[in-house]
Amino acid sequence: MTSAIYPGSFDPVTFGHIDIIKRASKLFDSLTVSVLDNKAKSALFSADDRVKMLEEVCADIPNVTVDSFSGLLVDYVRKNNFDVVIRGLRAITDFEYELQMAQTNRKLLLQADTVFLTTSLEYAYLSSTTVREVAAFGGDISLFVPDSVAERVYKKYRENGEQNGRKD
Ligand code: PNS
Repeated sequence: MTSAIYPGSFDPVTFGHIDIIKRASKLFDSLTVSVLDNKAKSALFSADDRVKMLEEVCADIPNVTVDSFSGLLVDYVRKNNFDVVIRGLRAITDFEYELQMAQTNRKLLLQADTVFLTTSLEYAYLSSTTVREVAAFGGDISLFVPDSVAERVYKKYRENGEQNGRKD
């Protein structure tokens, strides 16, 4: 049994992430998609909301489970005895950061070997950051994320807008 973990921020999950999840789920017996719950970094969605969105979009993939973690990835890998860390590579610009992270993780924990999957070309341009940016200005994100996710993103910006506009 080979178990893999795909860690990330997933703020929010995009079609690019889903492409990696589907392909990794075929390569390993089990795949855990895990959301980094980083209290120090301000995210659009709470870790719980990001987990819920991932659970919805992964519901039809039998060997995928969704979780969250905080702290060092290697500690989480050690605790759960994962065999492989999965990361997606979109372009050469991702490479330096990803290489550094993979090398650091492996130095900290030999078991934490990273397998890179190259993102399908149709999603090579896509990131959660651009999804947030387009949605924040009311643009169409239906080509970037599933409908259920898009609804939540727009709702979140409406709520945030209402909060910002509120005069207490
Ligand atoms: O989707 P992202 O933001 O590119 O994912 C980055 C993530 C969550 C995989 C990375 O930041 C991470 O593993 N953070 C946990 C803290 C950690 O272990 N840092 C050392 C890695 S060099």
